[in-house]
Amino acid sequence: MKKRLLDFLACPECGGMFDLKVAAMEDLEIKEGCLFCKNCGKAFPIKDFIPRFIETDRYLDSFSFEWNMFRDVQIDILNNTRESEETFQYKTGFKETEVRGKVFLDAGIGAGRFAEIVSRWGGEVIGFDLSFAVDAAYKNIGKRPNVHIVQADIFEPPFKKESFDHMYSIGVLHHTPDTKKAFASLVPFLKKGGDFAVFIYEKGIYHRYSDLWRKITVKLPLRAVYILSAVAIPLYYIHKIPFLGPALQFAFPTANWPKWKWRWLDTFDWYTPKYQWKHTYPEVYNWYVENGFRDVDLFDYPVCMRGKKG
Ligand SMILES: C[S@@+](CC[C@H](N)C(=O)[O-])C[C@H]1O[C@@H](n2cnc3c(N)ncnc32)[C@H](O)[C@@H]1O
Repeated sequence: MKKRLLDFLACPECGGMFDLKVAAMEDLEIKEGCLFCKNCGKAFPIKDFIPRFIETDRYLDSFSFEWNMFRDVQIDILNNTRESEETFQYKTGFKETEVRGKVFLDAGIGAGRFAEIVSRWGGEVIGFDLSFAVDAAYKNIGKRPNVHIVQADIFEPPFKKESFDHMYSIGVLHHTPDTKKAFASLVPFLKKGGDFAVFIYEKGIYHRYSDLWRKITVKLPLRAVYILSAVAIPLYYIHKIPFLGPALQFAFPTANWPKWKWRWLDTFDWYTPKYQWKHTYPEVYNWYVENGFRDVDLFDYPVCMRGKKG
């Protein structure tokens, strides 16, 4: 943890400011230590460079497993690609010129694929996640001077109100117990006039069969689904066979990326999370309106939206 992160943190219980106790430093970062709330006295540990505001990953063991097994797969700089950069642009609409010099909140950072873009484009990013994905994110990008990583829950964010210029949450809110509440719980931390971009799974008939398969797969041991998900690697070639391929893809959907590790990762990602809600454009649009946003933009990839806090 960098000392600078204190400028953004507040007690998730009472909103108080923190006193910092450092137990070990490494490379100008706090490796071990503690944050004490000056108001209510509650203490939160800093472990392995990350302030931890929760004791377990609660319902997110699949993501703790996923992002530590597939830590580097989607990180552009580690794979010499621009895939995450392009995805960030079409899912949020943020351009490099809007990012430079601004402070972003990445809600549900995962292994850090999008925070990597924001920091490379010259923004400062505070990324948090409830799962142990934070350890993967720290290994990937945590040493960058403009990156801060925190382990915390979207429903108890440990941040000062109105401290971020912009926020985004990509593929996260639908994995919480309540997507709409998760959206609303982030709004107080955005400055007035700041943008909030989200990507949320779309409701549609094409998920009918995977919803049925998920009834089984979410109950299986994660290691078993990890091995089973590898079937997506050869299925990619079978999906190219006329009639058989599309029928198989409809009845048993698996990820179809050209890169084999992405197919494996995204198939695991689809079949393991406990919560996986789907929503429509009108639903998400209403959340923006109800939370006082204006100038709400809809992007082509469903459901991607961005609005300005009024
Ligand atoms: C599909 S991953 C997306 C990660 C990243 N945004 C990306 O696109 O690579 C969903 C992430 O949401 C996180 N998540 C789910 N519920 C959360 C909560 N209540 N608070 C914080 N993070 C949460 C999971 O741990 C997981 O890392």
